[in-house]
Amino acid sequence: MFGAALAGFMSWLSEAGGSATLRVMQTLVADHPLVAHKLTALRDAGTETPTFRRLADELVTLLAYEATRYIKVEPVSVTTPVAVAAGVKLARPNPLVVPVLRAGIGMLDGMARLLPNADVGFVGLARNEETLVASVYAERLPAGLTGRDVFVLDPMLATGGTLETVIAMLVSRGAAAVTAICLLAAPEGAARLEAAFPADDPVPVRVVTAGMDQRLNERGYIVPGLGDAGDRLFGDI
Ligand code: URA
Repeated sequence: MFGAALAGFMSWLSEAGGSATLRVMQTLVADHPLVAHKLTALRDAGTETPTFRRLADELVTLLAYEATRYIKVEPVSVTTPVAVAAGVKLARPNPLVVPVLRAGIGMLDGMARLLPNADVGFVGLARNEETLVASVYAERLPAGLTGRDVFVLDPMLATGGTLETVIAMLVSRGAAAVTAICLLAAPEGAARLEAAFPADDPVPVRVVTAGMDQRLNERGYIVPGLGDAGDRLFGDI
């Protein structure tokens, strides 16, 4: 479903002791006509909040499909009307989904649609519009995350400061893997995360996004972007 991302974020196969080990790319950009269609409508300054919310919700579900590609499963058998079949079920502990307040809340339903049994934690960060530095103002996370797959929801990977802070919190609590789902990303933010969480880290950190835009402007907005995701989802309050 998804194609190549940026040069430098490539996946590669490494041959280790004769068995192939998949080393995953850190940033995966959606390459699918439905994703591109919905993202285009989302960007449109004329798209009103109700439609913006619906499009964001649908995009997250599409991105979640790819973001969960490496989620842990365990083998089970199932009895069909005809015979016994081998299958899998999601492994315990349940995955954790962490929307970053406030805009990440607009992505929660789209993610929960695919992972209805996931637990949900919250982190709130506010960005100082002068310095562009984000600081934590709220946090409700399990103290320990050992063995858990964690999915962070934040619509805009801009400078990367917010996601770097949140991912570091999750890794320090023992998360097995952290995958951020972003509607849009800027190369500056992706590069910052790649530097903070190199591909050979013991804890895999990944970003799945619907688009990699050109750059940030002087106010830290993604260009061409879609504006302020929080305002477009929830109003300019
Ligand atoms: N946050 C947003 O909502 N939009 C941007 O373009 C950058 C950060």
